Formats: sequence, structure tokens, C-alpha cells
Amino acid sequence: MSALLITGGAGFIGSNFVLFLRRELPTLRLVVLDKLTYAGNLENLAGVLSDITFVRGDILDQGLVDDLIATHHVDRIVNFAAESHVDRSILGPRVFVDTNVTGTLTLLESARRQKIGRFLQVSTDEVYGSLGATGAFTEDSPIQPNSPYSSSKAGADLLVRAYHHTFGMDTVTTRCSNNYGPLQFPEKLIPLMIINALSDKALPVYGDGMNVRDWLHVEDHCSALLVVLERGAAGEVYNIGGNSEAPNIAIVERILTQLGKSKDLIKYVADRPGHDRRYAIDAGKMKRELGWQPKHSFEGGMQATIDWYLSNRSWWERIISGDYQRYYELQYGERS
Ligand code: NAD
Ligand code: TYD
Repeated sequence: MSALLITGGAGFIGSNFVLFLRRELPTLRLVVLDKLTYAGNLENLAGVLSDITFVRGDILDQGLVDDLIATHHVDRIVNFAAESHVDRSILGPRVFVDTNVTGTLTLLESARRQKIGRFLQVSTDEVYGSLGATGAFTEDSPIQPNSPYSSSKAGADLLVRAYHHTFGMDTVTTRCSNNYGPLQFPEKLIPLMIINALSDKALPVYGDGMNVRDWLHVEDHCSALLVVLERGAAGEVYNIGGNSEAPNIAIVERILTQLGKSKDLIKYVADRPGHDRRYAIDAGKMKRELGWQPKHSFEGGMQATIDWYLSNRSWWERIISGDYQRYYELQYGERS
């Protein structure tokens, strides 16, 4: 029986996707390959570990990827594995090129050699660069990435495109806006601000706080990915967005209000170098061609997300203390 290989399935979106597929398609065989970097947390998959095959490993390991595809009869791949944080890419770009570009190339090469059925590349709207006050990215917008992170994702997208055009591989690429929801690593804006507010720590807002992001609930992202995986046209790119634009400062104030905390916790800090001003997604193609649209309102989604971080304190406290890194040893230490 064939299987779906999910890379980066212990991270934020990947683990939500694994949990989503277990609910939606419980008979689908899932193989998860994840290196468990600082951002990968096996605890995210704790409830389904006995129903999936989890392999700790690197997408750069061609032999391992070849082996997994052959052993588990993998016929489709969804690639989430990446270094995903812009600020870290400014501190150290090299690993972003290694994982995001060379890692994707490694997967594509194994997929091509073993003739797998479909390769879904999970990309980002950040490859399009930054918008002015109006307009939205379409699939035809020029690729103009500005950070080492977005440049490395753009490099991967171009390789995926080349493998379709040159080798006739069945590829699909999705570009989504900023995700939020349960299980997001607390280096990203929304969980960082929730956790700092709960701990009465300063909330560091970059620049003037007026940079705009277009927020997409992670469950809406998962439903869109499944639609593209099953019905997207080979070689195509699909933009996925939540129709929820907001300046950063509005998000931070919303979090403080919902938690009943003082706005005095807001601290304006030095801007991020090269900080993209605005992202907005035109997801019209997803609606027209695949009938998909987001279900979550930003209001409801944010409320539920803040509630999730309130009721899952031990999850993020273990991350902050570094304890989650010991979880793998507990799960697998004695088995290897
Ligand atoms: P994340 O940082 O939470 O998770 C990344 C996962 O990849 C981790 O589990 C990590 O251990 C794993 N990984 C890293 N390097 C690896 C390697 N060499 N081999 C195997 N596994 C490796 O990221 P996320 O927020 O879940 O993002 C997932 C994907 O979605 C990324 O490709 C990202 O570019 C894209 N994306 C994210 C967002 C967002 O808002 N989070 C928006 C658009 C696109
Ligand atoms: P982030 O969650 O890092 O996502 P991305 O840079 O990929 O969009 O940041 C979202 C926005 O929030 C971005 O404009 C930078 C800003 N930001 C802050 O103002 N303070 C912070 O501490 C962080 C992490 C982000």
C-alpha cells in the first residue's frame, strides 16, 4: 500500500497537517521525516505516533530519502521541512540555503529517480517581496524576495518549477501568508506576544508597528493543502490566504486586551533589517479553480489561539525551558 511522505512534520504547520490528515483520512499511510531541529517537537505528534511512521532524519540525506521512498512505497511528498524564521536567517543565512534549497533539491532528485506521483512544495508569499499600501500578490506577481529566508524559499520554488518543466515531474507549489494557531513555536509574532504578555514581559514591536501581514489560520492552510494535493493541476502555483490583513501593532493590542494586560507592556524596538512592509494574498485562483476558501474568521481564530496558549501552558513552558528537546530521548532514546 502506498504512503504519503511528510517532511518537517514535527514543526508548527507540518504537525497540524499530520493531525488534520489523521482526522480527515484515517486510512492514509503517513511517513514523517523530520530532523527535529530547535523548531521540531515530537510532542506535537504524541497523540498519533502509534498510527504513523516517524523517522528522525535530514532531508539532505539522499540515501535516507531514497530508502524511505522505496521501503514505504511513497507515492506523494509534501515538503514542509525548512528553516522558517526571518530573524534567524539574518543572523545566519547558510543553513537556510542548505535546508531550504539543497534539501528541496535532494527530495526532488529522489522523487524524480523513483518516479513518485506528486510533489507538493509548501512555500510562502514572502517570495514575492513587499507590497505598497494597495494590491495583493497573485500567482503571476514577480519573485522578488528580500530576506535570506525568502530568497532560499524562492530558490526552492524555482527548482520545483524546473523539475516540472525539464523532467515532467508532477509538482504543485503553494504560497501562503502568515499562519497562526495551535503549536506555533514561540519565536513567531503571535505566540511570542501571547507568552510575553502572560509572563508580564515587554512585547517587542519592530519599527513603527505598522508592517502588515495577512493572517491565515493553520487549519485553513491544512484544508487548502489537501485540496491542492488531491486536485491541483500539475506544474501550477496556488496562493493561499486568509483575507485577514492587520498591522502588527493591532495584533499586539488585541492580545493584550484579550488577556486583560496593560498596553504599557508594548516596547517599540529597533526595526528588522530589510523588513518587508506589507504582504497580502489574492487567493482567487484557489476559489475559482479548486473551490477552496478559508473558514476561520480572524476574530474567532485569534480568540481560540490565545485560549489554546492559555490552556497549554506546559507545552510552551517546556519549549522555553528546553525540556522539549529531551522528549525525543524519552520517546526513542532506548529504541536506537
Ligand atoms: P517550523 O520552523 O515550525 O518547522 C520546520 C520543521 O522542519 C521542524 O520540525 C524542523 O525540525 C524541520 N526541519 C528543519 N530542517 C530540516 C531538515 N534539514 N531535515 C528535516 N527536517 C527539517 O516551520 P513552519 O512554520 O511549520 O513552516 C513549515 C513550512 O511552511 C516551511 O517550509 C515554511 O517556509 C512554510 N511557511 C510557513 C509560514 C508560517 O507562517 N509559519 C508561512 C508561509 C510558509
Ligand atoms: P514573524 O512572525 O517573524 O513572521 P514574518 O517575518 O515571516 O512575517 O513576524 C511577523 C511580523 O511581526 C513581522 O512584521 C515582524 C514583526 N515582529 C515584531 O514586531 N516583533 C517580534 O518580536 C517578532 C518575532 C516579529
